[in-house]
Amino acid sequence: EDEQAQYKSRIKQLLVEKNAALIAHYYTDPIIQALAEETGGCVADSLEMARFGNQHQAQTLIIAGVKFMGETAKVLTPEKTVVMPTLEATCSLDLGCPIKEFNEFCDQHPDRTVVVYANTSTAVKARADWIVTSSCALEIVEHLDEQGEKILWGPDRHLGNYIQKQTGADMIMWQGACIVHDEFKTKALEDMKALHPDAAILVHPESPAEIIELADSVGSTSQLIKAAQELPNQKFIVATDRGIFYKMQQLCPDKEFFEAPTAGEGATCRSCAHCPWMAMNGLKAIEEALIDAKGKEVFVDMSLREGALKSTNRMLEFSA
Ligand code: 13P
Ligand code: SF4
Repeated sequence: EDEQAQYKSRIKQLLVEKNAALIAHYYTDPIIQALAEETGGCVADSLEMARFGNQHQAQTLIIAGVKFMGETAKVLTPEKTVVMPTLEATCSLDLGCPIKEFNEFCDQHPDRTVVVYANTSTAVKARADWIVTSSCALEIVEHLDEQGEKILWGPDRHLGNYIQKQTGADMIMWQGACIVHDEFKTKALEDMKALHPDAAILVHPESPAEIIELADSVGSTSQLIKAAQELPNQKFIVATDRGIFYKMQQLCPDKEFFEAPTAGEGATCRSCAHCPWMAMNGLKAIEEALIDAKGKEVFVDMSLREGALKSTNRMLEFSA
């Protein structure tokens, strides 16, 4: 407790000294989310994080999240110093979509508009025509479908299948998945729902189709938080990273939240409802990044920046 308080007060001072803003994702440790809020930074979903960093006047952005979020910030504001508590914090979707193979996939389908999830490298974003996050993917694909465009989608297959089903768009897909959301189990979720029949089920669309089918509300982290506030239910079963409970509980102190089950009894899962890379963001690492950015600063290849900026800006403008 004491140690945490000391870290927090030193970080607060450093943020002022360095003219820095702390931008955290909903999946990070609640202590970090609270600190971001207290210091005038933000805690947000991946689209809002990008927007906030883009508009904030701070000279340095501390991105507490995973690598693609830091890269997006650097692509949008190359004049700023963008640092992360650790550059090791990656994402299984990013790892599962190497640029060489993705380029080959795109080359095989030159007639298709390339729509890429934000959870990717700058190189993959540079290859894309459009970037989307889970909060705007549906609207963007709907819009492209109305224009008669055929889509090449990557890398999350669950989100892609969900959007395909909703829009009826002509989509072919890269077969990536998030190791956290891929673990949610249908049978166990049905059993849990039977125990709490009055609970609403909230699902992030990176989850498998059978989980999404059981949902009362599907959406990005921000959209799920909003659903928790707006739905009349007192209980919620939530299929996404458990970091999100901090904000849900804060906004709905009288409601009850349960983690959706990740594995049957006795079974193991690699990442039970918590992203191992988001978990790498700690107070100590944030302090270190503020004291010395060496080895923690995000750089993007400037020859790729222009392409990534174009596809990312399309998303920002569309969803403004
Ligand atoms: P959101 O855009 O919903 O915050 O999702 C980002 C992410 O990595 C989910 O796993
Ligand atoms: Fe990537 Fe999944 Fe972690 Fe989100 S939760 S950052 S999609 S691995």
